Amino acid sequence: MYICLCNGLTDHVVGRAVESGAARPGEVYAACQCKAQCGSCVRLIMGIIKDLASSPSAQARG
Ligand code: FES
Repeated sequence: MYICLCNGLTDHVVGRAVESGAARPGEVYAACQCKAQCGSCVRLIMGIIKDLASSPSAQARG
């Protein structure tokens, strides 16, 4: 599913960026070689960061 329509970022792409260490929306955009444009996806990206940070696999990684 598309999370960021301006940059064409899907939930998979955002998830990979977060799993690679992006902890803020700006870091997710940077990891995807793009920038926030309209900003309407920031809340969704923050939700993905929060979800993955609280997932058991993330906690196992520390
Ligand atoms: S939807 Fe992501 S910047 Fe517009």
